[in-house]
Amino acid sequence: MYSHLNLDEIDVTKEAPALEPQRQYYFIARLRQMTEQQSRREGRKLTSCIRTFGCQMNARDSEKLRGILELAGYENTDSEEADFVLYNTCTVRENANQKVYGHLGYLSGLKKKNPHKVIALCGCMMQEPEVVEKIKKSYRFVNLVFGTHNIYKFAELLVTALESERMVVDLWKDTDKIVEDLPAQRTYPFKSGVNIMFGCNNFCSYCIVPYVRGRERSRRPEDIIAEIEGLVRDGVVEIMLLGQNVNSYGKNLDEPITFAELLRRVERIEGLERIRFMTSHPKDLSDELIEVMKHSQKICRHLHLPLQSGSTRILKQMNRRYTKEQYLALAQRLRQEIPDLSLTTDIIVGFPGETEEDFQETLDVVRKVRYDSAFTFIYSRRTGTPAAVMEDQVPEDVVKERFQRLLLLVQEISQEMSKRVEGQTLPVLVESVNEQDGSLVTGRLSNNLLVHFPGTKDLIGKILPVYLKECKGFYYLGEAADLQ
Ligand code: 5AD
Ligand code: SF4
Repeated sequence: MYSHLNLDEIDVTKEAPALEPQRQYYFIARLRQMTEQQSRREGRKLTSCIRTFGCQMNARDSEKLRGILELAGYENTDSEEADFVLYNTCTVRENANQKVYGHLGYLSGLKKKNPHKVIALCGCMMQEPEVVEKIKKSYRFVNLVFGTHNIYKFAELLVTALESERMVVDLWKDTDKIVEDLPAQRTYPFKSGVNIMFGCNNFCSYCIVPYVRGRERSRRPEDIIAEIEGLVRDGVVEIMLLGQNVNSYGKNLDEPITFAELLRRVERIEGLERIRFMTSHPKDLSDELIEVMKHSQKICRHLHLPLQSGSTRILKQMNRRYTKEQYLALAQRLRQEIPDLSLTTDIIVGFPGETEEDFQETLDVVRKVRYDSAFTFIYSRRTGTPAAVMEDQVPEDVVKERFQRLLLLVQEISQEMSKRVEGQTLPVLVESVNEQDGSLVTGRLSNNLLVHFPGTKDLIGKILPVYLKECKGFYYLGEAADLQ
């Protein structure tokens, strides 16, 4: 494992090993040698900055990239004036792409001031050929471009880029490879994401993810368990199992296992207190999973169950493979079996062909399920997806008006639902000192709601009972139970 890795023992004068992850350790050692030399020339430590756009998957990928940079001798900073800047991009909606182009303009200015600055781009947006063409043409100051499938090769790619005068571009269409045992630098000492699978096979007709993240690949349960055990030894009490569609975990392994069975095994890890997971596809959510959740002491009372649309007709167009009635039945079963479960969702407004009647069906589901919270999105046309060429794209003003109505309803219900636990005393994992008021700390309930209460920074990472005094809409003000 990398935790026993001693970079000094690696002979960088030899050729790089062919095997992974040893090959990457070799390049990390080379990278370290290069940064040390430059540090000596400049008389200071080199700095690096990673900007992450998009989802939890990207956040976890960034922790891995940061782990490599740290071992290579870079000091992590939040400032884009750093010697090395990396954008880990998202492309799920067009505005995510626009953000990256906007930031690149700013970086170009910084690079003019510091020609030694190294700039790299990776992540989902780079898996789109038109994007890479545009970068090659209009953003020639970028040093390195890589994608989602070869992220494990980051150290090797960065060495190549540092030795090259030209932009290094390495993009793979797909991969069946999973490289284990690479380093990671966690953002929080007490909680961590853990990838259990990569890619997606669902091809929802609006979604670009299957094209940029490739086919579903599950990690072996032994590797996942070993990683979590290592994290727990390192002080982690909460983990978030990550996959685009965790409910189809394990289907393609040599020895197939279900997601519910994986959860049972993870639950047995001593010292681990909380288990979360993201994201569930309603079509694959099994009774076995509901059973496991219901009886679990560690699985958090939160399920994110994307609806996307409440209209069976639109769901069919979206290739979601469930109907409004099936979704409602599932939500009802969940509410019945696990009454304190918080249900959250994703909804898209303005999918091609969506009529007012279809939209009313969505509002109807929202009223019936009563989500604890919901992410609402305006449909964004992604080139290459089937929906992008569908007729009847909905006019912008109609979509915006529907979006506002949905938002109002979602917020109204969410406020009512959040109030459900007012007056109770529940365990809270303390995450940080409150940003606005330093006399408070901020933590999360099992159902994912935020709680602010008087406390000091030594509580960070601890789980303690908190009296939920007052619901303030989407969060709570509380008091540590033993202070009452
Ligand atoms: N337009 C708008 N929202 C989208 N999502 C995925 N693709 C699109 C798109 N083209 C939303 C879905 C998904 C969430 C992560 O992003 O609701 O669940
Ligand atoms: Fe996209 Fe659908 Fe896969 Fe989610 S399940 S990543 S929405 S294709």
